[in-house]
Amino acid sequence: GLDISNLRAQSGLITFDPGFGNTGACKSDITFVDGENGILRYRGYPIEELAEHGNFIETAWLLIFGELPLKEDLARFRALLCAEELIHEDLLHHFNGFPSHKSQPMAILSAVINALGSYHTDLYDIHNKSEFFLAVGKMISKVRTIAAFSYRKSIGRPFMYPNPDLSYCHNFLHMMFSIPNKHYDPPIEAVKALSLVFMLHADHEQNCSTSTVRMVGSTQANIFASVSAGICALWGKLHGGANAAVIEMLEDIKAGNITIDDYIERVKRKEVRLMGFGHRIYKSFDPRARILKKAAHNLLANGFDDQLLDIALELEEKAINDDYFTERSLYPNVDFYSGIILRALGIPVVMFTVMFAIGRLPGWIAHWYEDFENPTTRINRPRQIYTGQTQRNYIPINFRK
Ligand code: ACO
Repeated sequence: GLDISNLRAQSGLITFDPGFGNTGACKSDITFVDGENGILRYRGYPIEELAEHGNFIETAWLLIFGELPLKEDLARFRALLCAEELIHEDLLHHFNGFPSHKSQPMAILSAVINALGSYHTDLYDIHNKSEFFLAVGKMISKVRTIAAFSYRKSIGRPFMYPNPDLSYCHNFLHMMFSIPNKHYDPPIEAVKALSLVFMLHADHEQNCSTSTVRMVGSTQANIFASVSAGICALWGKLHGGANAAVIEMLEDIKAGNITIDDYIERVKRKEVRLMGFGHRIYKSFDPRARILKKAAHNLLANGFDDQLLDIALELEEKAINDDYFTERSLYPNVDFYSGIILRALGIPVVMFTVMFAIGRLPGWIAHWYEDFENPTTRINRPRQIYTGQTQRNYIPINFRK
């Protein structure tokens, strides 16, 4: 390995790496990505195998604790998730601090996750594995309650409380869509598709939001605050916000505001980006996009109808056969097809990035803990290349021009 003790002592040498494209900020055992060959593995398990045989909760355990769970692990985890699904009644007041209609679920989610920490200050400092386990259960369980409540708030509807008899994804859909005296009973395909979407978003090594969680965590900030910062980082349309931007783009084409060919021409003139295309790491097809493309087809073949899929397929076909995109290695990423699945499940666009956040939470937690456990973690503090003025003398106000 590299001996960093000398590097620590030196302060004169700075590498300039805009966007950190070539900077390894940490060592990590969690997720392996080979962008040239389109390979993604969680803790060594290929994403394709996990997608075929596993589910979101099992994947969350794998990412956070390092191994596939045993039966008793899963039973313990499920019991904890059920026990933690409610949020403190006082915490509900936070929702009232947001406008009734048109409130932004991402703003609510990041604020309430941070506020959640102040209801569990005993977990601000984690001393042992059982405290960590409890923090994991609280966040993974409550995030979907907070997310669903943020949606109900955004449409001005009363909250629907969780039902402990339901599975993780089913329970979330229930809190989203049930109304008093009429429980929403989603088809099994919908529950499975949601679990798949969450699972495929669960981790992706040092992406912007995960790096943010590690950055904030490196100050020894608590896990709730660190995750809340990650949620804010995810919000942007170049990151988690891309799934909503994809649907807006496809809707625009469907509404006849612009043709596919004209959209591609605008992309080439660099007026807009082809949303859901391109990736810092993947220079070939994103393996998650491959799985989701198939899942979108399956779902739509099972009675969920969406013309946007046809537009997406045509757009993809044109782009991947166009030199502008191939020269820049631009292929569909995870967000190109996830939005179509979410739409088919009835999830409104304003919730798309929140859905990404629920999926990414296990990854954030796993990375936060990896740094937390590592005794060599230092506060993250990049350097800069200063380009401002050299020294100047102070000018009294009457002499300034
Ligand atoms: N559409 C059109 N052109 C693109 C796109 C795109 N989606 N992405 C990159 N390019 C072009 C750039 O204009 C640039 O071209 P140039 O060399 O002629 O200037 C070249 O490809 C390289 O682009 P960068 O911006 O340097 O790539 P970077 O690695 O910084 O960005 C990103 C990656 C942000 C994902 C980018 O591809 C993008 O904006 N995609 C659209 C948004 C999106 O889908 N984001 C989701 C990412 S995945 C996720 O968060 C889960």
